[in-house]
Amino acid sequence: MPTALITGATAGLGAAFARRLAAEAFSLVLVARDEARLAESAGQLKLRYGVDVETLPADLTTDEGLAAVEARVRQGVDLLVNNAGFGHHGRFPDVPAADEVRMLKLHCEAVLRLTLAALPGMRERERGAIVNVASVAAFFSRGTYSASKAWVVNFSESAAADIGDPRIKIMALCPGFVRTEFHQRAGMDTAGIPGFLWLKADDVVREGLRDLALGKRVSVPDVRYKTIVALGRLVPRGLQHYVSSRIGR
Ligand SMILES: NC(=O)c1ccc[n+]([C@@H]2O[C@H](COP(=O)([O-])OP(=O)(O)OC[C@H]3O[C@@H](n4cnc5c(N)ncnc54)[C@H](OP(=O)(O)O)[C@@H]3O)[C@@H](O)[C@H]2O)c1
Repeated sequence: MPTALITGATAGLGAAFARRLAAEAFSLVLVARDEARLAESAGQLKLRYGVDVETLPADLTTDEGLAAVEARVRQGVDLLVNNAGFGHHGRFPDVPAADEVRMLKLHCEAVLRLTLAALPGMRERERGAIVNVASVAAFFSRGTYSASKAWVVNFSESAAADIGDPRIKIMALCPGFVRTEFHQRAGMDTAGIPGFLWLKADDVVREGLRDLALGKRVSVPDVRYKTIVALGRLVPRGLQHYVSSRIGR
């Protein structure tokens, strides 16, 4: 059975990845900080899908946590999903510097180091896949969050180009607004976000995995967000920056 390691696997998109991959008979390694919740998720997945599920409690913003997950990835995984992430309440430069750095550690350093840990085994086996969860925000201006997700998109495309082996797929997944715990955890007020802009985590994961199978390097699920990204590229950059830094913050 192939093995998938998913970071941030206990909620939202990560939990949707876990359900979908378990249904496709992957053995799973679930990573998140909350140990009790990890055990609960693992129990449910084993019961429902009959697959092997390991849990690895780790805070990926700490050196020990990241090293523990790197070590597990080096043992060999067929699919790595770098999904764990969070948003800030407030805008630059009001967010405390320590919180900005924590975000860069999770969104950039962890993605870089886990990708580096996964690649030698994948190259040896001449197969494997890495999904780095970015965001539609990567194409707009929303403080350190969008900057870190722009890094994820560019990094994924650059790594895929440098590896240059279609048997090893590396893709950035760029969802729009998804109903998860993300906004509540960040203390964001979502009242101003129109209903039609909300996506379901299961739909995002299904479309993302389909794009991965097709060999895409960047996946923007749903026609609504494909349109928004395309229009964003047509609007003058100054106007785009002004509007995107104000919507849904
Ligand atoms: N929801 C959206 O609208 C949206 C849109 C675009 C992109 N995204 C991206 O999608 C990804 C998943 O977000 P989500 O919406 O599913 O969020 P979520 O529902 O809040 O889930 C976040 C997951 O990450 C884990 N996590 C958070 N910090 C961690 C850390 N330091 N170390 C290890 N695990 C950690 C959480 O578990 P613990 O708390 O137990 O650690 C949880 O399992 C993120 O990268 C986010 O930026 C979300």
